[in-house]
Amino acid sequence: MYIELKHESEVPLYLQIKNFLKEQILSGSLPPGSRLPSTRSLAQRLGVARITVQEAYDELIAEGLLSAHVGRGTFVQGPSGEPPLPTPPSEPPWEVSPSRLSTRAILRDMLRMAASRDILSFAAGVPAPEFFPVDGLRRAINRVLRREGVSALQYDVPEGLLPLRQSISRYLVDVGIVATPETILITSGTQQAIDLVARTLVEPGDAVVLESPTYIGAIDAFEARGAKILAVPVDEEGMCLQTLKLLLIRYRPRLIYTIPTFHSPRGGSMSLERRRQLLALAREHAVLILEDDAYSELYYQESPPPPLRALDTSGYVIYLGGFSKTLFAGLRIGYMVVPHGLRERLMYAKQTADLHTSSLIQWAVNEFIQREGIHTHLRRIRVACRERRDAMARSMERHFPPGVAWTLPQGGLYLWAKLPREVNAFEVFFQGLARGVAIAPGPAFFPDRSGEEYIRLNFSLHPPERIEEGIRKLGETIQFLLERARRARPKLQRVPVPIL
Ligand SMILES: Cc1ncc(COP(=O)(O)O)c(C=O)c1O
Repeated sequence: MYIELKHESEVPLYLQIKNFLKEQILSGSLPPGSRLPSTRSLAQRLGVARITVQEAYDELIAEGLLSAHVGRGTFVQGPSGEPPLPTPPSEPPWEVSPSRLSTRAILRDMLRMAASRDILSFAAGVPAPEFFPVDGLRRAINRVLRREGVSALQYDVPEGLLPLRQSISRYLVDVGIVATPETILITSGTQQAIDLVARTLVEPGDAVVLESPTYIGAIDAFEARGAKILAVPVDEEGMCLQTLKLLLIRYRPRLIYTIPTFHSPRGGSMSLERRRQLLALAREHAVLILEDDAYSELYYQESPPPPLRALDTSGYVIYLGGFSKTLFAGLRIGYMVVPHGLRERLMYAKQTADLHTSSLIQWAVNEFIQREGIHTHLRRIRVACRERRDAMARSMERHFPPGVAWTLPQGGLYLWAKLPREVNAFEVFFQGLARGVAIAPGPAFFPDRSGEEYIRLNFSLHPPERIEEGIRKLGETIQFLLERARRARPKLQRVPVPIL
């Protein structure tokens, strides 16, 4: 590990040391419990005054990232302020491929950043908690407990509470999906539905098609199952069918996982024409489509094209929906609409996983849908999210240097931006963190971990003034990285110094 000190830089030396260490800590390169060199020895090695190193350490201590113990030294605390952990005595006895580990580490970091109060985060894939209709939920739970009593707290069937499945069946009619309650299975979030499908339909070594980029939790679920991932690029109209066709012929995959509407992370939607062509290909090659529809209710212009499941006449689509992005992410209510032939297998997979999703929470969500007016709530969050999307786009116009490109999404939660050639998403991630702002780096979303030219920004998490502040900091970060890259091009004066 090396610190590059730039003596000619306008950034004071103590701040360069601090920023470097902060990046190392937040990225996990310096894990909690790591002992830092003494100020004297680091100062000697870097050729700077001891007070310079002391100032860097002091600021990191003030931010809760380091702790100093008299007679023992200075230790990494970790971003959440937990006490130093003892270093494990030896390597753990299991093996994890480094690439798989890194995706998980990124996901964990993103969630941790979003939870840290010091960081203005656009990184996480979560909805803004101030939109959660808490009073409505309180009323719904009270009514359920009064009316259903202990039966709302008893075990239930794995496929889920019948009244909730009936409500979802009625709810889906509005988006053109005809699904009887028997074909609906309640899951603990859409994530569990993806996992159950992977466990039920994919054997280790089977090929599975994913979009590239795609939802990180789907990459994890299929990788954990030992699937061979086939990545298909996505353009403005959705998944590129030319590539898909070749892969279908060559590898005969078990499944095509797609997010056709308000794609995460890209934000765009598959055109109606492309949806029809995709369905035709699935039929021709007899391959199932797993349609993840996590975001379609969050539209800010006209409503999106119908889901694949609504257009499917041959039973090739498993449809996934849920209430995480629209009602309460933490209640973990999702559902799948399954072709008849798969119902039993998926139901037993659910039973094996956790018997069933919480009875009380299923009752409460059903009560909310029926009595608290989900459509009124949806209208309210569409207005608020649209305002935040527009605020972020305006701030990006104002503060991002030329060379950053993005398209305004018509729905969902994310702005997907392409960086100038000289700037890398991980650098923006770490340098942004050092300035108190978090983004999700593109490689988290690519099955092959490419995409270092992209960043994803969740525009829904903060009110417009905070968005403006965060985007300004991000603009400064990108500008700083651009200038650094341009300065470095003619001659880069590096002073590599090992510190640990
Ligand atoms: C595309 C997509 N699918 C599924 C999920 C998981 O959602 P849930 O909370 O319903 O498990 C997410 C969450 O970010 C997502 O973005």
